[in-house]
Amino acid sequence: MGPIIAIDGPAAAGKGTLARRLAAELGLPYLDTGLLYRAVGRLVLDVGGNPSDVAIAEAAARRLDPADLDRSDLRGPAADAAASGVAAIPGVRAALLDFQRGFAARGGAVLDGRDIGTVIFPDAPAKLFVTASPQERARRRWLELRTKGEDADLATVEQDLRARDERDSARAAAPLRPAADAVVLDTSALDADAAFRAALAAVREKLA
Ligand code: DC
Repeated sequence: MGPIIAIDGPAAAGKGTLARRLAAELGLPYLDTGLLYRAVGRLVLDVGGNPSDVAIAEAAARRLDPADLDRSDLRGPAADAAASGVAAIPGVRAALLDFQRGFAARGGAVLDGRDIGTVIFPDAPAKLFVTASPQERARRRWLELRTKGEDADLATVEQDLRARDERDSARAAAPLRPAADAVVLDTSALDADAAFRAALAAVREKLA
C-alpha cells in the first residue's frame, strides 16, 4: 500500500494547492476533506436548518453521497460558515471517519484538513502542518475572491477567517492543532513553488 500523507492547517494557508501538487508528484490520490464538511453544511442549509443543530447535521452527514462533493456551491462565506458549524459536532465527524479512512486504505493518499494527522490517521508516516500569518492568509483569500470577480473587502475577509480559525481551534471535537510529530511549514514568506519544494523535501525525508 502507498503511504498516507496528512496535511493539516488553518483556512487559506495554501494546504489545498500544496496537497494537490504533492499527490500529483508522488502518484497518490488526493482528498480535500474540507469538502466533506462543506457538503454536509450545504445539505443542512438545503433543508433550511441551522448548521449547529446536532440532529439535522448528523442526519445530513449520514446521508452524504460522494456526488455531493461535486456541487458547485461549496465555496463562499455561507458555505464556509456552515462547514465550520457542522464540523464542531462530534457525531458529524464520526459519520465522516470511515469515508476518509476508506479513501486512503485503497493504496495510500494525500489528505488535507484539520485533524488528519491527529485523529483520522495518527500513524501516518508523513504529516505537515501548513500555516501562515492571519494577515497573509486573508490577503491570499481576498486575491482569490477578486480573481473570481467577487467584490470582497479585505478587512471582512480577515475577520471571517479569524472567526473560523477560532471556531476550528476552540471546539472540543478534534480541534485544529499540529500533531506532535508534524513538520510545521510556515508559508507566510514563501510563494507557491517555494512552499511546494519545502513540503516535498519534508515528506521525502519522512518517507525515507
Ligand atoms: O479546509 P476547508 O476550509 O475547506 O474546511 C472547511 C471547514 O471544515 C473548516 O471550517 C474546518 C472544517 N474541517 C474540519 O473540521 N476537519 C477537516 N478534516 C477538514 C475541514
